[in-house]
Amino acid sequence: MTIQEEIRGLASERRAVILAHNYTRGEVQDVADYTGDSLELARRAAAVDADVIVFCGVYFMAETAAILNPGKTVLIPDPSAGCPMADMITGAQLRELKAQHPKAKAVCYVNSTAEVKAECDMCVTSGNAERVMATFRPDEEILFVPDRHLGGYISGKLGRTYELWPGYCPTHQSITAGGIAAARALHPGAPVIVHPECAKDVRDSADFALSTGGMCKFARESDASDIIVGTEVGILHRLRLENPEKRFHPVSERTVCPNMKKTTLENLAASLRETKTVVTVPEPIASRARRAVEAMLKIA
Ligand code: 13P
Ligand code: SF4
Repeated sequence: MTIQEEIRGLASERRAVILAHNYTRGEVQDVADYTGDSLELARRAAAVDADVIVFCGVYFMAETAAILNPGKTVLIPDPSAGCPMADMITGAQLRELKAQHPKAKAVCYVNSTAEVKAECDMCVTSGNAERVMATFRPDEEILFVPDRHLGGYISGKLGRTYELWPGYCPTHQSITAGGIAAARALHPGAPVIVHPECAKDVRDSADFALSTGGMCKFARESDASDIIVGTEVGILHRLRLENPEKRFHPVSERTVCPNMKKTTLENLAASLRETKTVVTVPEPIASRARRAVEAMLKIA
């Protein structure tokens, strides 16, 4: 029996659904029930008909699944798979910021801890941020945490000003405008898509800033035969699988999120076999965080 067969066998025995983020290893995406971006996976997690959710991604994503499914067992194969950006603001720091801006609405990127979500009025993902943020009145004061790049991108698009927390993604920060110029020189005429977690000069040198789900859609719908991709390289597996006739060129092969690579077929099998590691979010944090996530899901 192959390890893939063992994983699928265990998943049906345990009534488990395997969710994988677009940045996970190709072999993990291939064995999962669903692969998607943060928004698609949060939606799946909210609608899932299973006893167990195994989340192949990083910790805040599994936590979001647990927040949305209080009665289900949520497992993460490697609990050390964190997100450095999510850890750039604590609940205490956000409480202090809110105290300095008592009238402001607090908005968190889904890449945040449950404790931070619990302090927020609204949550957004890169796939729905523009739509969700457009629902705030232009005169409302907004605190946006933790990603200064996504917050800056949306505030620019909507022509509004937000108080931005200075968090960032180290993986996307490594993509440079010079890297894009070099990729364009190698593949003249190819459109450049980047993630909104990239810095402003990088987004400005690209053609489109898209969530990973948005990138998959762009790749399907574009007439271009070559596309330059500025995000974590794990997504190339899915882009190439779904579009075998097109060529995808990473801005840099070194754009790797080490935490997204922590899920392997081996620890995924062990997770199902031994029901580990269970992700729980204590009350009342879970119910307060659920309000912000559900408010988002209701809008978009
Ligand atoms: P997406 O929601 O676009 O998949 O992004 C998640 C993420 O962590 C990007 O670094
Ligand atoms: Fe966090 Fe960046 Fe990794 Fe996404 S790619 S999980 S934002 S460190």
